[in-house]
Order: sequence, then structure tokens, then C-alpha cells
Amino acid sequence: MSSLALYRRYRPESFAEVIGQEHVTDPLQQALRNNRVNHAYLFSGPRGCGKTTSARILARCLNCEKGPTPDPCGECQSCRDLARNGPGSIDVIEIDAASHGGVDDARDLREKAFFGPARSRYKIYIIDEAHMVTPAGFNALLKVVEEPPEHLKFIFATTEPEKVIGTIRSRTHHYPFRLVPPGTLRDYLAEVCRKENIPVEDGVLPLVVRAGGGSVRDSMSVMDQLLAGAGDDGVTYAMATALLGYTDGSLLDSIVEAFATGDGAAAFEVVDRVIESGNDPRRFVADLLERLRDLVILAAVPDAAEKGLIDAPADVVERMQAQAGTFGPAELSRAADLVNEGLTEMRGATSPRLQLELICARVLLPAAYGDERSVMARLDRIERGVNVSGAGGAGGAGAGAGMPAMGYVPGPDAHVPAPAQGAGAGQGPVQGGAPIPPGGGPAAARAAVRAPGAGGAGTGAGAP
Ligand SMILES: Nc1ncnc2c1ncn2[C@@H]1O[C@H](COP(=O)(O)OP(=O)(O)O)[C@@H](O)[C@H]1O
Ligand SMILES: [Mg+2]
Ligand SMILES: [Zn+2]
Repeated sequence: MSSLALYRRYRPESFAEVIGQEHVTDPLQQALRNNRVNHAYLFSGPRGCGKTTSARILARCLNCEKGPTPDPCGECQSCRDLARNGPGSIDVIEIDAASHGGVDDARDLREKAFFGPARSRYKIYIIDEAHMVTPAGFNALLKVVEEPPEHLKFIFATTEPEKVIGTIRSRTHHYPFRLVPPGTLRDYLAEVCRKENIPVEDGVLPLVVRAGGGSVRDSMSVMDQLLAGAGDDGVTYAMATALLGYTDGSLLDSIVEAFATGDGAAAFEVVDRVIESGNDPRRFVADLLERLRDLVILAAVPDAAEKGLIDAPADVVERMQAQAGTFGPAELSRAADLVNEGLTEMRGATSPRLQLELICARVLLPAAYGDERSVMARLDRIERGVNVSGAGGAGGAGAGAGMPAMGYVPGPDAHVPAPAQGAGAGQGPVQGGAPIPPGGGPAAARAAVRAPGAGGAGTGAGAP
């Protein structure tokens, strides 16, 4: 039993079990309930999202002895034949157009289709990978799809609906399937693991969901591999990052903290650990970029996790919230930009380690760069008193230093001296190059803005 792949063991046999496709399964079930069933359907969408599965379920609904029904009884001959582990039904014919999409196959189908079903209400053809049917094949099918006998139903499934010729497509009811959202997928995987009775450490499922890219089948395959390798303590986070090649979150924490505090020694030590532990530097930079993106979002939307904008376990979100608070918004956005640029450049021949180190140097040293975002980043630091002597003292006249420049708008409950009021002061340090008075005024103001709960509606500049 358990030698069967996980995704096959959990293949849904009713629409209720299909996840993340309610926009398709609800109207389909309603059509069955209303007995308004079309004679041809087109299921389109990305791989592994439930097209073939849903075609089989629809066939099961149509041929149930108590049907057509949105909820197949599960007990009649047809339902048992078409169950997950059933032998299949001679009246439900699956054709893989990738290997049987030629004109001869289509003619053959056309002839056989006119014979009525052997045992069931309908004879149902599921034509999978329908984009592989040749134009001549489609033309041979045209007439029977246009004017099918009463007993005949067609379900076409494809990743490329535009390759199904228009004359056929226009005869079908088209249902577009979608990638499944991360939250839905995560809950589903958690349920599967619970049923499999294998504990899974926090943080593992978001990695699996990420690796699966929204495809249920791919996510299930990854999960399967992790479950297969699980020891007595189940699937651990360390095992998942190692197997999936993701960067261990603690490395990301360390480098982000090094950036925030301007601690070069710590940053380069992390680089060393990345290389020494055999991580792919490019992967590390990609993961770092994703982390910075999450921080940019969190800085702008403190409840991003509840809103589903960020997918991570609670403790990671908590850590990231703290990290987002230790950066200035300009610094954060600049770091994301630089890491993004660095990632693009990493395709070249230069040693990836060297490039990673140079990225860190650029992030760490805004003082060495004269562009506006570097100046803004320096300003952030000065206000926080990081690596700048004399800054961070008490008092001082606040200059209302250009805070909204990066699109971070303070929330209604943030106590910020309105930056626009002191005309010129809001922009002075950036464009005019005026000296920046040391002082806690604006720093305190910004800290208030960044504090979780002081929600801003920023646009998250630099997010991928
Ligand atoms: N929406 C979904 N809900 C639950 N399981 C799904 C879903 N989509 C895919 N699966 C899982 O992935 C496997 C393959 O799905 P399938 O229907 O063949 O995908 P497609 O035909 O879209 O490529 C199924 O056996 C099932 O376990
Ligand atoms: Mg399929
Ligand atoms: Zn039945």
C-alpha cells in the first residue's frame, strides 16, 4: 500500500476532496445538481492541479447509478469501478493524446464512440494532454464533438487550451484550473502528514510548498520524499533544508542581523559558513532576496502574515518582525535592490563566493556610494546610531528627514512630526546635501513608524 506514491494514494475521488479549485468544482457540482450537464468539457491549467483527477470525478458523478449527482454514492458498480483503487470502468475511456493524438486514433475513437455504453449511463472519453491532438485528429473528432449522440460525453484536459482548435473549444464548457495558494497547500500537507502519522517540524511545510510551486502533485512528491527519509523524530527542518537545497533560516537570520548592525565581520563569517557547509551561493543569494522581500513587506504591513502576504511559521514571522524593525526602510529597500542586482550578475564566470562577498560589501557600506538610495540608507543608519559616531544622542532638533521618500507612509497611530511642515527640511539632507543634525528626534519618530502595529501602507519598493 505505502509503496504507492503519496499523491496517488491521496488522489481525490470526489469534488469535496479537491483543494483550491472551488471556482471550478462549485459550478460543476451545481450543474450536476441542476442536471444541466454539457456534452463536452475543457479543463485547462498548470500541471498537477487536479485536471485529470477532476475529469475522473466528473465521470464518476455522471455515471453513478444514483446520478448524475455532485456526490457519487460510492457503492454502485460504477462508483466502485471508478474509485481510487478501483479497476476502472469500460465506459470511461482515458486517452493520452501525447501518444494517441493522431488522425488514425481519432477516427478509431469516432467509430467506437457511436456504440452505446456497455454498463453505464454514459460513454465518457477523457482526452488528456489534449493539446497533443494533431490538427487532423481534431478535425476527425469535430463532427462527433459537435453533434454527439445522447450517450456520449467528452472531457478534454490540457495545460495549453489555446492549442485546442477553436471549433472544438467553442463546443466545450471551459473550466480553468489554477495553481493552489500556499496557505491551502500547507494545510492540506499538514493533514496528509497527520494521516501518515509522521511528525513534521515547524518550518518544513512552507519549504515543501515553496518547492512545489503551487502544484499539488509536485508538493506531494516532495513531501513523499521527505516522509520516506524521516527518522524516529519525523521530518526535521534541518533535513528538509538539506534535501531541498534551501538555505537554513539561521544563516539568513545571521546575515540580516549583520546587515542591520553594520557588522562586517559577522557578515563575512556567514559567507564563510555558507560556503563551508556546501550551500550553493546563488541559492543563498536567492533565499536572502526572498527574506529581504518579506522584511520589506513586513515593514510596510505589520500584519502581513495574518493577511497571507507572507508564508512562514509563527516563530519565523516573529523573528522577521524584529529584523524589519531594526532596519530603516531606505536601508531595507536598498539592500534588496543590491542583492537583486547581485543575483542577476551571479550568472557570470566570476567566483560565486567572491560575488557574494562583494554584494555584502555593497550592502554594508552605503558610505562608499553617492547615489540617492545609499545616502538614504546612511541617513537611516545615522538616525539609528549604527556605525556612525556622534549620532543617536538625546534631544536635538528633528529635521523631519525625508521619511516618506521610499513610499512608507506612517499609519494613523504613529506619532510622527509631520515631515512636510518644516518646508525643505523633509528633503534637505537628501537633495540639498545639507548637514544632518545629530539627534534622536527623527530616529525616535521612525522607530515609532516601524514598530509593529504602527501600520503603514507603503508600497514595498524593491520587492520582487
Ligand atoms: N486540487 C487538488 N486537490 C487535491 N489533490 C490534488 C489536486 N490537484 C492534484 N492533486 C494531486 O496530484 C495528483 C495529480 O493530479 P492530476 O489531476 O493528475 O493533475 P493534472 O491533471 O492537473 O496534471 C492527484 O493524484 C492528487 O493526489
Ligand atoms: Mg493530467
Ligand atoms: Zn454510485
